[in-house]
Amino acid sequence: MNAPLSPTAVRRPIRELPDELISQIAAGEVVERPASVVRELLDNALDAGAREITVRLSAGGVRLISVEDDGAGIPRDELVVALRRHATSKIASLGELETVGTMGFRGEALAAINAIADLSLLSRAIGADAAWALDGRTGELRPVARAVGSTLEVRELFYATPARRKFLKTDATELAHCVEAVRRHALARPDVGFAIWHDGRLVEQWRGAAGHDPALQRLADVLGDEFVAQSVAVAHESGAVRVHGRAGIPDAARSRPDQQFFYVNGRFVRDKVLAHAARSAYEDVLHGHRQPVYALHLDIDPARVDVNVHPTKIEVRFRDGREVHQAVRHAIENALAAPRAGESVATPAAPFFKPAASGPAPWTQPAMHFAAERGLGDAAAMWPERRVEPAAAPPPAAAPNLPVPGDAWPLGRAIAQLQGIYVLAENSQGLVIVDMHAAHERIVYERLKNQLDGAAIASQPLLIPATFAASPQEVATAETCADVLATLGLEIAPFSPRTLAVRAVPGPLADGDPVDLARSVLAELAQHDASTVVHRARNELLSTMACHGAVRANRRLTLDEMNALLRQMEATERSDQCNHGRPTWRQVSIRDLDSLFLRGR
Ligand SMILES: Nc1ncnc2c1ncn2[C@@H]1O[C@H](COP(=O)(O)OP(=O)(O)OP(=O)(O)O)[C@@H](O)[C@H]1O
Ligand SMILES: [Mg+2]
Repeated sequence: MNAPLSPTAVRRPIRELPDELISQIAAGEVVERPASVVRELLDNALDAGAREITVRLSAGGVRLISVEDDGAGIPRDELVVALRRHATSKIASLGELETVGTMGFRGEALAAINAIADLSLLSRAIGADAAWALDGRTGELRPVARAVGSTLEVRELFYATPARRKFLKTDATELAHCVEAVRRHALARPDVGFAIWHDGRLVEQWRGAAGHDPALQRLADVLGDEFVAQSVAVAHESGAVRVHGRAGIPDAARSRPDQQFFYVNGRFVRDKVLAHAARSAYEDVLHGHRQPVYALHLDIDPARVDVNVHPTKIEVRFRDGREVHQAVRHAIENALAAPRAGESVATPAAPFFKPAASGPAPWTQPAMHFAAERGLGDAAAMWPERRVEPAAAPPPAAAPNLPVPGDAWPLGRAIAQLQGIYVLAENSQGLVIVDMHAAHERIVYERLKNQLDGAAIASQPLLIPATFAASPQEVATAETCADVLATLGLEIAPFSPRTLAVRAVPGPLADGDPVDLARSVLAELAQHDASTVVHRARNELLSTMACHGAVRANRRLTLDEMNALLRQMEATERSDQCNHGRPTWRQVSIRDLDSLFLRGR
């Protein structure tokens, strides 16, 4: 719905906006870090109708950001105007501001960049017989050779404000933010080709997708095949709003909200209404702090959404927030509830069935079996015997009649497992009910903590390193945080610019999924300052790790495994509560049971 100029469209000259319109435009800083510059330059290239965009960065973008496009170009006599504040070719009146379809409209970005860096502008307009370069510092204009299109070069960001430069993170981190900015644009425009170079090395390249489903192809290219395989198509229309894209199945949820993309008329936004709508759509199917993944586009009449709210345009305001909330929520709910037949995804083995109208989504059941099967490798290295009953088997029978144990075992003797969630045990006072995931998580957590109190968590090398397609941010974190990772018992090495290999995992988590673990730890590290994370965020971090090592709900345990869990709990400090403060077990006394049955009254 955004309306990029087609290269042949009539282009309007760049003009300074009238004062009364300037006062209407959300004012404020737009350049916070190199990624902000990348975002603005990409917006401009797309507005100019580019089909191929090349981003070249040096030193995380601090030394150089160059964005080259094959768009409509800027005529020679407008180059100087382009750098002026409030000068734009995109709107000319309040009416146009209210229905704007381009990414830009403030006429501020180039002026703002020119004020804090060395900016030069090379461009050849459609129909012009030469290209011209403007030096933003000196104002010098000279002829150069290039095809139709523009190249914007930004050097030495914040050269005049060392204080702001100090706030920048490492080059690797700034690069990761730049790549993320390109990624957001790339997901919005599968028809456009993008390439990112860093210090002479090709970091990412996504070709302008053709094929029968360019949007799906682009999602796979940018977010990985896994994202596509683990998500369902969303297509929903209600009233003035159309919602389309993909929503991840609950099993694809992550520990961080790093794969949540919302676009409004082609613009990446962060919006409370949208985020809330998504959260409520997943409410019944996602537990705890798990973050769903999605890439969703909203097409809505531009007059019903105000994009002039925040200087960076990352926020919007809907005229009717309720309408949008409902549309998004229903769109996701419907998509998740529809059977995934015919899609090329990892479909659970169990057959789908249609639930009662208000019941859980149909894949909830089979997906849990699926998770349980995959979780087999996940669990408890500490359990003596790892015989596992098939997921479809009936619940294990109660234990044979043995004398009730004395107080040697406070948590008693296991007798059964309930619904794949609870372990039931019998002790001298009556019945003990244990939440097995919560309890196991606590045990693993305490174990990790004890080891880390020593010096480092003992790591166990993997016979076959587990490799995975990683984001530039993940690769950067693995590189910069190698020491911290080693302390945590993890060895994650770059295998190629886009691949990481997990070579060793913490001993207590040896049976977990190494890739899941690596991903969550990297995500967590990326949020913190690496040098202090082990001290300040250590418990959060260990808790995340423990959650990955802990036995999943729906895994069938043998009685031996259940008893081993009870004994471990007795031996573990603070095992009465899980890491999130919920109880891990409850005693139901014979008295409680008697009163349930009105016995002895
Ligand atoms: N890559 C480009 N190709 C063609 N024209 C461009 C390009 N970049 C900038 N321009 C022209 O320069 C003008 C100023 O760009 P600038 O980014 O400062 O403002 P804007 O895009 O109009 O609004 P905003 O400040 O919201 O981005 C644009 O309106 C456009 O006409
Ligand atoms: Mg712009």
